[in-house]
Amino acid sequence: MEILEKNKIKSSQDPNVTSGKNISFWTSSVEPIAFQPLDKDIQTNVVIVGGGISGLSIAYSLIQSGQKVVVIEDGNIGSGETGRTTAHLVTALDDRYYHLESVFGEDETRLIAESQEAAIDFIERTVKAHSIDCDFERLDGYLFLHPTDKPDSLASELKALLRAGVEAVELPVTPGLNESSPCIKFYDQAQFHPLKYLKGLCEAIVKMGGQIFTGTHADKIDSSGVVTSGGHKVVAENVVIATNSPVNNKFVMHLKQYAYRTYVIGARVKKGSIPKALWWDTGDFKTNSRIPPYHYVRVHKLDDNYDLLICGGEDHPVGMADEDRISEEDHYSLLEYWLKKHFTVEDIIYQWSGQVIEPMDSLAYIGRNPMDKDNVYIVTGDSGNGMTNGTIAGIIIADLINGKENPWSKLYDPGRFKLFSAGNVFFSELVGGTIAYLKNKPHDVKAIELANIPVDEGRIVELEGKKVGAYRDKNRVLHVVGAECTHLKCIVKWNNSEKSWDCPCHGSRFMVDGNVINGPANNNLPYYLDGSDKTNENKSE
Ligand SMILES: Cc1cc2nc3c(=O)[nH]c(=O)nc-3n(C[C@H](O)[C@H](O)[C@H](O)COP(=O)(O)OP(=O)(O)OC[C@H]3O[C@@H](n4cnc5c(N)ncnc54)[C@H](O)[C@@H]3O)c2cc1C
Ligand code: FES
Repeated sequence: MEILEKNKIKSSQDPNVTSGKNISFWTSSVEPIAFQPLDKDIQTNVVIVGGGISGLSIAYSLIQSGQKVVVIEDGNIGSGETGRTTAHLVTALDDRYYHLESVFGEDETRLIAESQEAAIDFIERTVKAHSIDCDFERLDGYLFLHPTDKPDSLASELKALLRAGVEAVELPVTPGLNESSPCIKFYDQAQFHPLKYLKGLCEAIVKMGGQIFTGTHADKIDSSGVVTSGGHKVVAENVVIATNSPVNNKFVMHLKQYAYRTYVIGARVKKGSIPKALWWDTGDFKTNSRIPPYHYVRVHKLDDNYDLLICGGEDHPVGMADEDRISEEDHYSLLEYWLKKHFTVEDIIYQWSGQVIEPMDSLAYIGRNPMDKDNVYIVTGDSGNGMTNGTIAGIIIADLINGKENPWSKLYDPGRFKLFSAGNVFFSELVGGTIAYLKNKPHDVKAIELANIPVDEGRIVELEGKKVGAYRDKNRVLHVVGAECTHLKCIVKWNNSEKSWDCPCHGSRFMVDGNVINGPANNNLPYYLDGSDKTNENKSE
């Protein structure tokens, strides 16, 4: 319990640099990774916006190839989704290989498997080359059948895996689980501590002459470089946007992907009582047959007596937790129930949530930004496989910038269009988002008197005919923000677990003072403290 308390206290200190109120185990187990903000105009070969695993992997590869590199991050290093991940390093992807085959074909699916394997090898080599102390280890993984899934889905998956060249075997019982379930065993997967790895990457980048600036928001971005909200220019020959959801791309990419909120809990278990492995179920088809919420589990060392069992899942489209009448906070209870059914644990000491961006055809988008100049690159749509996809971005984008052939670049090209083979799940999400956008009023919007807003909660209310988001903090002070998302003006919704305003259209998020923490929006909501006119100047246009 002690850690959860510490976790809560820490989280209330600076939610803006951790993208939510809840703090992950990773963030609370290392010192913040911060550099000086940019305070002058500079020039470089490549400017990279975003200091998560994608931005730093790209920076690392480019600098090794002799390019001059600048990284700009508006929080601390790893303060986006990389600090909220669970860091399974896998070829066992979120979407089934038999589905990938139906979208891309057998040969391309083999290339997808090859690229994911290469990403794990890349991380392993980098860890060894720079002696990065990040708890990297190889281990096996088990994909086990959820009771609501079709029994033959494992057999179909195994056949597709073997065709793709992934080493796997079917087992009648899943090792390590309390419940008996058949599974596919994946060999040679891996895991690490993501922030310790990023720290090692930063040290290597800086040692090789790269420059990293944190606390530096890229306000205006085009093919000539970046202007920060402090007014400083980074003039560059190449511009890479690694902000998870690309903040430089207003429309095209956001019609090809959809943001999901996913939840994590960390439970103490007696050291050694649970074997080191990765586990994933195939998803609960009874709760939602179109997008079955699934679960993912791993073990990390905690102290001399305990390990931490980290369990994630219970995803839902951003801003739409209440579609299923389950609040954000209740998703943690569902996770706990599932975890305790499958593993023997002591107490729950961590909880946090984060965001994953689902591409319409199940593969990440890495490469040139569509409908832009040839020197602008993005990485996005990396699902729950962003550790490997961010690393693949390091390989592909470095090759593209260096004019080198790359066997996977066509496959991951953000300009590809696989609409007809992608199935209808994407469409229903897209239509939901589009309708919300067109109507500009999500269904739960109702006028509630400001006075009735409970402590530590937020509501959308009407003030003089304008919709605003009002949050009452623990000192009863009201924080009022404009409720129109600064991306395409959808009305944001309150997330009571992370104490943030989340946009149901394309996943942008804002803190209670309006600070933007997830794109595609790149500007803050206007902020009026306690209804006064203290407008938010930081980061806004
Ligand atoms: C709960 C959870 C569990 C997951 N589990 C796994 C897993 O087990 N395995 C796996 O492979 N993947 C997993 N993922 C996915 C993976 O964590 C992400 O895909 C990955 O971390 C994304 O990395 P990134 O570098 O692309 O983005 P981020 O880490 O989000 O980095 C983007 C950075 O850009 C910065 N930024 C944004 N806008 C600006 C701006 N205008 N100026 C300056 N900086 C800006 C942000 O502050 C942020 O730090 C999980 C994700 C979540 C949320
Ligand atoms: S994220 Fe697109 S309108 Fe809000």
